[in-house]
Amino acid sequence: MTEPTTADGARGPGAVRGVSRRGLLLSAAAAGAGGLLVGAAGGAAAATALGRGDSPGDGADAIDLSGRHPFYGSAEQAGISTPVQRYSVFMTFDLTTSLAQDLQVLLARWSAAIAQLMAGKTVGQVEPARTDGIGLDTGEALDLDPASLTVTLGLGPRVFGDEYGLAARRPPLLRELDLPTGSLHDEWSGGDLSLQACADDPQVAYHAIRVLARIGKEAGSAATRWTVIGFGRASAGRGQSTPRNLLGYKDGTRNIFDKDDFDRYVWVDDGPAWTRHGTYQVVRKIQMHIENWDTDPVSDQNRIFGRHKISGAPLTGAHEFDTPDFAATGPDGQPVIDPTSHIRLAAHENNDGVKILRRGFNYTDGINQYGFLDAGLLFISYQNDPAHFERLQRRLGSSDALNEYITHVGSGIFFCPPAPARGTYLAAGMFD
Ligand code: HEM
Repeated sequence: MTEPTTADGARGPGAVRGVSRRGLLLSAAAAGAGGLLVGAAGGAAAATALGRGDSPGDGADAIDLSGRHPFYGSAEQAGISTPVQRYSVFMTFDLTTSLAQDLQVLLARWSAAIAQLMAGKTVGQVEPARTDGIGLDTGEALDLDPASLTVTLGLGPRVFGDEYGLAARRPPLLRELDLPTGSLHDEWSGGDLSLQACADDPQVAYHAIRVLARIGKEAGSAATRWTVIGFGRASAGRGQSTPRNLLGYKDGTRNIFDKDDFDRYVWVDDGPAWTRHGTYQVVRKIQMHIENWDTDPVSDQNRIFGRHKISGAPLTGAHEFDTPDFAATGPDGQPVIDPTSHIRLAAHENNDGVKILRRGFNYTDGINQYGFLDAGLLFISYQNDPAHFERLQRRLGSSDALNEYITHVGSGIFFCPPAPARGTYLAAGMFD
């Protein structure tokens, strides 16, 4: 029953037969810890003794759908430092009014609606008071729990252009990204407003966006621009086991978790008063060339990321949360973590300490025109200076070995204002 494993914990197909995927992972965790393959049951016992995220059997699958987040009363908007939910709907909007007052009314109406939605309540009446359906809750979330819904609003650069008289209110670092735009498509880029709805029930997230889009359209002030429906959160919060992206790797192992790091790298703490406790949101729709990736041997995939696929450990370590040793060299004198590997290029140790919060989601758009699977990562990062994202992306864009398998096809940048105090609304301070 014992069989030697590779460094990655992979083994012959015969050993896998009859073992569930979870069992396989547990076995791998145990094998990583003890150096031997044991059965799923033995693996479970060993896995519980491992540290955070080393065990996929640590109860992370149990979801309490009654969870709810307050909309008012926190300094920061929910959906940024709050635990990452399973599903997301991200949508951007174009303003269809030239009046700042219309924008103000829209933000007030959206805020009131978001407060209701996050509390698991209906928006508007349910019983028809009118025959045309306008002003009614559309109903598809009526029997559903709040599912930890968060809705996070962002303001795009054009809000602070000359048109609305808000130029003097511009969050000081909000501007278009200074990066190559060659592979980006207009249809998945830009927007004057963004809404990120995340929930543990996809229907709850979709309902929220649908209601808010409808309010914008009815008011004649905002029209939908582009959207991505996400699943399988690609980043994890404290206490959550690390989920995997569609390339099969744990994504979110080294991220921002501590309050000190949030204060230092994520939240804005200077500049105009209304921007404090806000943050800059960068969104990239990144297509993955999944079929090509699947033909690449796991040993090469590990080289590309600088990590082991199954355990998530850095190539210089044995466990997921071991700190990568970028100075380590192998018997051939070459760096163990390849110079073009994703983690070497992105790590804060190699970027003057720069850190960003990554909070993305996997997505799929079905099948593309050539018959290939059309899927990828909706990369969303939060930082108190968009230049931090640009710095990392410039390095990755020019040298990352992963570039052979991904293409950035969409992009957006937004400023997320702080949460409103009760009785007021999102970004109210920018109209003062
Ligand atoms: C489809 C595109 C991408 C994929 C599949 C991907 C995947 C990963 C994976 C598997 C890891 C290692 C596990 C972890 O520490 O979370 C990682 C780390 C990281 N990625 Fe990405 N990533 C992508 C795009 C990006 C982009 C666009 C940026 C920023 C410009 C970025 C920044 C980072 C950073 C900062 C780390 C942590 C590195 C460390 O400190 O070790 N990633 N990514």
